[in-house]
Amino acid sequence: MSFQLLDGRKLAAQLKQQLKQEILHLRGSTGDVPRIINLMVGQDPAAQSYARSQMKTADEVGVKYELLNLPENTKQKELLQKIDQLNRDSSVNGVIIYKPVPSQIDYQLAAGSISASKDLEGINALNLGKMILGEAAMIPCTPAAVMEHIKSTGVLLRGKEAVVVGRSEIVGKPVSLLLLKEHATVTICHSATAKLEEQIKRADIIVAAVGKPSFIKGAWIKPGAIVVDVGINQVGNKIVGDVEFDQACQKAGYITPVPGGVGPVTAVMLMNNAVTAYKAQWAQRESAPIKK
Ligand SMILES: NC(=O)c1ccc[n+]([C@@H]2O[C@H](COP(=O)([O-])OP(=O)(O)OC[C@H]3O[C@@H](n4cnc5c(N)ncnc54)[C@H](OP(=O)(O)O)[C@@H]3O)[C@@H](O)[C@H]2O)c1
Repeated sequence: MSFQLLDGRKLAAQLKQQLKQEILHLRGSTGDVPRIINLMVGQDPAAQSYARSQMKTADEVGVKYELLNLPENTKQKELLQKIDQLNRDSSVNGVIIYKPVPSQIDYQLAAGSISASKDLEGINALNLGKMILGEAAMIPCTPAAVMEHIKSTGVLLRGKEAVVVGRSEIVGKPVSLLLLKEHATVTICHSATAKLEEQIKRADIIVAAVGKPSFIKGAWIKPGAIVVDVGINQVGNKIVGDVEFDQACQKAGYITPVPGGVGPVTAVMLMNNAVTAYKAQWAQRESAPIKK
């Protein structure tokens, strides 16, 4: 079976080009561009490296991105005060906080106190609740990236069998809602799912978000299926996904690689949310939508 590689870098480049144009238009019609703040507590090297790559993406599309590094010993109360200050600052359109955070910080509490209109990761309870209602403006970035990959295949999801492996709040659950919104029939699998192999074998679309290297076997893939691998697993000095890639390529119709699949598109989705937040806040302030 010949498969098509869902190249995340290529897709990200196209999406960045579209966003760049949109931001140029925003600058022309509003006189400004989105501004986002990454609140980082401590000096985690992985978080810093991720922030650097996001800064590059922001720069490419024309979003103002600022890294606000708070000391490792920042108290929860101080962090909440800072978030409150950023929530009130009308020159800030979005706020993000990355894990890991030092042990004295309750991440859920901190991330949940970012106002819904500035919650660029779409993980605030209000934004997640809106997803259930099908009304969300701010879609969590990784699930949004998964959907962009699926959309890029041109395959209609109506009536298709989708199996999502993983039910985390940041990936599995939101991606399931997005697939449901597109009229797929969705099965969510997790660590207590019986006969996972049988579930996967009938799936037209498989989204793997488990965090276990090569956990989903190539032999389980239905011929022609769309396989989106969200997993990022370090094996020796290599990064691999949750799907047994080489074997899955022999069965799949479309498949994302790891690395270079979902990851590059996720970073662009954050910028997309920054644009959404900026437009909504501008329209609210001016009591008028931005002219097309
Ligand atoms: N590319 C990106 O942009 C991006 C972004 C976020 C995450 N990731 C990666 O995606 C992966 C998943 O992330 P996450 O945050 O969703 O992970 P998570 O919170 O650890 O969730 C993992 C999920 O996998 C399920 N699971 C574990 N063992 C299983 C088994 N034997 N059979 C079926 N399901 C099983 C768990 O089930 P239970 O709920 O029953 O425990 C859980 O729902 C990780 O590798 C992470 O690094 C990538």
